[in-house]
Amino acid sequence: MDKFVIQGNGPLSGEIAAGGAKNAALPILCASLLSDAPLTLTNVPNLRDVGTTGQLLEQMGVRVEHPDAHTRVLDASGITTCVAPYELVRTMRASILVLGPLVAARGEAHVSLPGGCAIGARPVDLHLMGLKAMGAEITLEGGFVHAKAQKLKGARIVFDTVTVTGTENLMMAAVLADGDTMLENAAREPEVVDLARCLRAMGAKIVGDGTTTIHIQGVKKLHAAEHRVLPDRIETGTYLAAAATTRGKVRITHTDPGLLDAVLVKLQQAGAIIRTGLDFIELDMHGARPKAVNLHTMPHPGFPTDMQAQIMAMNCLAEGVGTIRETIFENRFMHANELLRLGADIRVEGNTAIITGKARLTAAPIMATDLRASASLVIAALAADGETIIDRIYHMDRGYEHIEQKLAALGAQIRRVDKLL
Ligand code: UD1
Repeated sequence: MDKFVIQGNGPLSGEIAAGGAKNAALPILCASLLSDAPLTLTNVPNLRDVGTTGQLLEQMGVRVEHPDAHTRVLDASGITTCVAPYELVRTMRASILVLGPLVAARGEAHVSLPGGCAIGARPVDLHLMGLKAMGAEITLEGGFVHAKAQKLKGARIVFDTVTVTGTENLMMAAVLADGDTMLENAAREPEVVDLARCLRAMGAKIVGDGTTTIHIQGVKKLHAAEHRVLPDRIETGTYLAAAATTRGKVRITHTDPGLLDAVLVKLQQAGAIIRTGLDFIELDMHGARPKAVNLHTMPHPGFPTDMQAQIMAMNCLAEGVGTIRETIFENRFMHANELLRLGADIRVEGNTAIITGKARLTAAPIMATDLRASASLVIAALAADGETIIDRIYHMDRGYEHIEQKLAALGAQIRRVDKLL
């Protein structure tokens, strides 16, 4: 199993480019199921989850071409099966995103239930509730969701919890339904907006994305389209947090500062000087130690749960005491125990972590537990004294493209090894 060996060596400094957003690419790849005409996607990040989604679609009979590393051309005209098997779904919960498009376009879907995951129960009841409201017949059997509908009907759907993939699944289902659908208390994440943009390019009629009410007018058919995936705000934020933690100075290009408002505010509170342009963000700590920040995670435009672990790592080395409250997922502090192994001072009480910053952390062997937790461990290791070995970094490969190369470009000493000599 691959590991990272990281030698803490001072401030990160330099310039790197952000890639396309994983969480936008995944639903958009699934949107190809809605049409018999080709969908061309650019700025697709080359990540394990994207590969898994490609495999999932290919085993259904979708043709997936890779003209280059970041482009995909998908053609679902020859689809042969509407089954998403457990082997693929269990490695990536986002596989549930094929459910809405399959029922809408093919009249049926058989998708393995994702089951529990490392960061909490994460049910899909709201996805199913919405499809039922649109007239689908849903049964659960053998660990699978079976959904059937000759033709979905538009409906008014009120989410009692804000769900990102739930909103995306039902938005995709609604574009081919008979009549109008209103999604109320919809997720406002930029990735939802990017999916809506792609669907509109395919001929869908959607308004209100980016607000809590999305109105979709069903159309008969979608057509060929081309779409560029938006930049990854979490990848961008992770490198900024790494720079802040190591007292560095970095410039991230090919990004969009407008996607990171809540994160930039926290970095500024930590003492970073931030300068932004249309497609870049510069962060400069002027060599100073970060100040601890308080935050609670919230649906967009609040502070994203996917950046919580990285800011916790920063707080571990900051001046003062920072409190982090996780309100989205019930079990998302697993990185805390690993950070303790590096000498951090963290007290977890329920969904709140109280972090007292230390002047230094010291290297130790540690283990990644999920995607964003692994990012926080890398950040802490970059700032720790000595050589840290991080195990199970396959989590990292789900969401960060070329992380070693990008960090090395900022001056980090990081290498990937498959066994330790
Ligand atoms: C998406 C993101 C993930 C991010 C999360 C929250 C993708 C592929 N993943 O995950 O990176 O951390 O949003 O921003 O985009 N819930 C229910 N019932 C449901 C669905 C969700 O109770 O049917 C609850 C969840 O348990 C959780 C909350 O709603 O407590 C938010 O989850 P949700 O927004 O659905 O997360 P994902 O879409 O899975």
